[in-house]
Amino acid sequence: MLNIITEKLPKYAKKLDQIIKPIEKELFLLEDNLTENLKSESPDLDKMIRYFFRSGGKRLRPVIVMLFSKAINRGYLPTNNFELALAVEMIHTASLIHDDVIDNSETRRGTLTLNKKWGAKTAIITGDYVLSMALNKLTSINLLAVEMFSKTLNELCVGEILQKNQDYKIISMEDYINKSERKTARLFMAGTECAAAITPNSNNLMINSARCYSLDFGIAFQVIDDILNFSGTFSQIGKPAENDLKNGIITAPVIFAVQEYEEKGDFTLRKLIETRFKKEKDHKKALKLVLGSNGINKARLMAKNYIQKAVNSLDVIEDNCYKQALIDLSWYTVERTS
Ligand code: IPE
Ligand code: IPE
Ligand code: MG
Repeated sequence: MLNIITEKLPKYAKKLDQIIKPIEKELFLLEDNLTENLKSESPDLDKMIRYFFRSGGKRLRPVIVMLFSKAINRGYLPTNNFELALAVEMIHTASLIHDDVIDNSETRRGTLTLNKKWGAKTAIITGDYVLSMALNKLTSINLLAVEMFSKTLNELCVGEILQKNQDYKIISMEDYINKSERKTARLFMAGTECAAAITPNSNNLMINSARCYSLDFGIAFQVIDDILNFSGTFSQIGKPAENDLKNGIITAPVIFAVQEYEEKGDFTLRKLIETRFKKEKDHKKALKLVLGSNGINKARLMAKNYIQKAVNSLDVIEDNCYKQALIDLSWYTVERTS
């Protein structure tokens, strides 16, 4: 009998709550196992880990791993697939902890980041520890899982360094998608593809469907995250809004906005960005220009197209409530406000 404690549920929006109903029990178990499996010999590490997981998070990567696994396995979640879901969330966690050090971020999930609360050194060690535990979990699954994730982590590093080197540059949409794919979508892909590959009796059609679905989903997810940086509030997204542009991170809404203005012969936005907001009010001016353009709408439309492609990739999977949940989750992602 599962011991269900309501406070342990991740902070989902109501609609999302309904969508994930088919894996509700597994998600409770995931919450328990995340902190339990990450217990260390150090009370200090335990403290950081408890702090991080208590701050919430959507658990989207394990949700997709579990839904896809059940969709192709007659509603049954094999132990290895559950372990994989845990490993994916751990890797995501480590990447966020390290990303906050890289970005010098002060808040995430509505609370102080580990680096802000305990300093960068502690945050880096905690991220490394979580990563080491995830790798340990992957080795218990099989060598293929280790191979897939080591490649993905490799890509993630390339994505992060690309972003670092592209600051205040008006990159092409192609470069933006490329970076987003490496930084974010590949982790969704590794989890889901690996889930399909280790599910007994799965086949190449299912593995390919998992790959294509999660890659397009992951790109759309990052595009929406970037939109929310303009349209969301701190209480919605749990991190400061309007920060990307200020820090010179050029995302889809800005790329579309620059294009739109330049088609009319107006190069103001480009100049403000490329001169790194030299004057005090430059950033506010640039922000106003982005918000006054169709950049956000165009970016949302682009995300919708990726989601449509993702959903189409599920066509080869038999209809069941888990596949439907994946479809609903995909459309929810485009409309999400948190
Ligand atoms: C945040 O991911 C980082 C990105 C890849 C955009 P999530 O929005 O999934 O983060 P949590 O886990 O829900 O906090
Ligand atoms: C998130 O990237 C971290 C990774 C994908 C590794 P971002 O910097 O774009 O996301 P937030 O805004 O910190 O969540
Ligand atoms: Mg960041």
